[in-house]
Amino acid sequence: MVKVAVMGYGTIGSGVVEILEKNKERIRKNSGEELEVKYVLDLREFEGDPIQKKIVHDYQVIVNDPEVRVVVETMGGVEPAYTFVKAMLEAGKHVTTSNKALVADKGAELIALAEEKNVNFLFEASVGGGIPIIRPLMSSITGDEIVEISGIVNGTTNYMLTKMTNEGLAFDEVLKEAQAKGYAEKDPTADVEGYDACRKIAILTSLVCGQQVNYEDIHTEGITTITKEDILYAKKMGRVVKLLAKSCLTENGYCALVAPFLISNDHPLYHVNDVFNAIFVKGNMLGDSMFYGSGAGKLPTASAVVGDIVDMVKHMNTHIVLRWDKEPVKLADYKQSESRFFVRTKASKQEISQLFGEVEFVDVDVLPDEIGFVTAPMSEAAYEQKAKELSDLLRMIRFN
Ligand code: HSE
Repeated sequence: MVKVAVMGYGTIGSGVVEILEKNKERIRKNSGEELEVKYVLDLREFEGDPIQKKIVHDYQVIVNDPEVRVVVETMGGVEPAYTFVKAMLEAGKHVTTSNKALVADKGAELIALAEEKNVNFLFEASVGGGIPIIRPLMSSITGDEIVEISGIVNGTTNYMLTKMTNEGLAFDEVLKEAQAKGYAEKDPTADVEGYDACRKIAILTSLVCGQQVNYEDIHTEGITTITKEDILYAKKMGRVVKLLAKSCLTENGYCALVAPFLISNDHPLYHVNDVFNAIFVKGNMLGDSMFYGSGAGKLPTASAVVGDIVDMVKHMNTHIVLRWDKEPVKLADYKQSESRFFVRTKASKQEISQLFGEVEFVDVDVLPDEIGFVTAPMSEAAYEQKAKELSDLLRMIRFN
């Protein structure tokens, strides 16, 4: 029998407890052990709920109980999650977390501590919710050099962009609807400004390069400036707007970026809609592959946490090696990366051609006072220089 403690009885934590109960027999067979939740750490009491008898308010109760071998952290945020997780690892307990903020910030340090204590710190649920992506990267395709990871890793913004595309709605309208349905938070900043996606691509890039990628170093643009008019142009070009978190291997190392991109209909990410997530991975031997599924939500995310619990129970006396050194890596400057740029402007075709040379013009009948165009491939730096000189620039969205 392995005793488990769950820190944080919110959406994901309660999902973990539910799965451990519902799939008890299957989990017992697959892990080779019976699992029992002994404690649930939360500030609330949950009066009348069967969980009430397991509730504790002091994390030291868990730290000091040698019977608890596995701890689940589903509290979110860096503190106090970091203090609690560190104490659990120091006490020789295995920890799994769904908390991307914690992993992006403290992943390398907590992995090193887990190694020192010969336990595990796993975090499959921190990126892509229920989609297995970290384990495949760390085991199945670990023999590959990963030359690209491009992900739709935020369900909220993907839902919003899908609605804008399918129903011609404005950003504010879809945000209200997403909030009403519980897909978007009351304060949606982390999702719509791309901060959530930024932390997720920082984690994935850290894992593929084996070194700390500081999320602050990743240029991040959200979707708040995307309008109905942008979507009309996207449709005219047979493309969709998606918030991508991208990391590509260049001769100067990994180059990471989070921004809205225009994706063509022959790319697998084009078809990823609503709250679904997908992570497109290109390996130097494997070629292209895509991991698709539910990127958020109670049971999908809890399912990934339970997968980690089973893995830890099967490796009770072994540290699963994850190479993620603390030394921060220097990312390649995204301004040197090349792309084609879609631009909306009120400038004349003559001015555009003089500045950008040969471009493809895009007309949308219902927007007669402006013009769209797509540049030839050029660096971000070169684009920025030219864009500064262009009169009446309305929008730029990169081509994928
Ligand atoms: N807010 C996140 C999303 C939750 O919308 O994808 C999962 O990390």
